[in-house]
Amino acid sequence: MDYASILEENSILESDRLILRPFTIQDVPDVYLFARDEVVTRYLTWPPHKDMSVTEKMVREIYMSRSGIYAIVLKSENKCIGCIDIRLVPEHEKATFGYCLNRDYWNRGCATEALALILELAFAKLKLNRVESTHYAGNETSGRVMQKCGMIYEGTGVKEVKIKGVFHDVVHYAILKDDWIRSKNR
Ligand SMILES: CC(C)(COP(=O)(O)OP(=O)(O)OC[C@H]1O[C@@H](n2cnc3c(N)ncnc32)[C@H](O)[C@@H]1OP(=O)(O)O)[C@@H](O)C(=O)NCCC(=O)NCCS
Repeated sequence: MDYASILEENSILESDRLILRPFTIQDVPDVYLFARDEVVTRYLTWPPHKDMSVTEKMVREIYMSRSGIYAIVLKSENKCIGCIDIRLVPEHEKATFGYCLNRDYWNRGCATEALALILELAFAKLKLNRVESTHYAGNETSGRVMQKCGMIYEGTGVKEVKIKGVFHDVVHYAILKDDWIRSKNR
């Protein structure tokens, strides 16, 4: 399976309210709005950005240079409101993902809509066998998004990681291709 070509062919994904597309340098001010927010970054591995030059570096060196990273654009405002990415583990025919959203747009179903697009990409286009992800205990909103997309709780690793000096329990979720296909046919 030529994963790189499939990702390239699917660099733009669309749902009712969202477009997922590659980042551009023009997105830096919108990205800064969520990257500077200590509530948004609380459970992420990176600290809130202190100024826009840090955001510009991240957008250039990570968001614009790796495949599988999408800007989440709200069609009605033509604004980049977040980021979602798919990270392939080709040898196991599986992927993981991550997402974050500008706090002004939380609890409107946007992350759920974006993750549904990523699962469709993973199973219908990339033909992967499994998609998995985790969240830290305390960040149950993220687990709720995974549940709403049909992902199954697989267990919790106690004090599994040390992030920003604090040990966190890590909650694991996954979905298999066959279960995703069954959920589509229901
Ligand atoms: C996680 C995140 C992307 C979710 O985005 P979102 O667009 O608000 O998510 P959705 O609106 O699709 O779904 C949120 C769900 O969580 C629920 N929720 C909100 N606060 C909650 C809480 N404290 N505990 C449990 N569930 C909660 C909402 O009610 C909703 O579920 P419902 O539709 O059944 O009512 C967003 O909160 C975020 O950017 N967080 C910071 C970055 C982050 O932590 N990323 C994940 C790292 S694992």
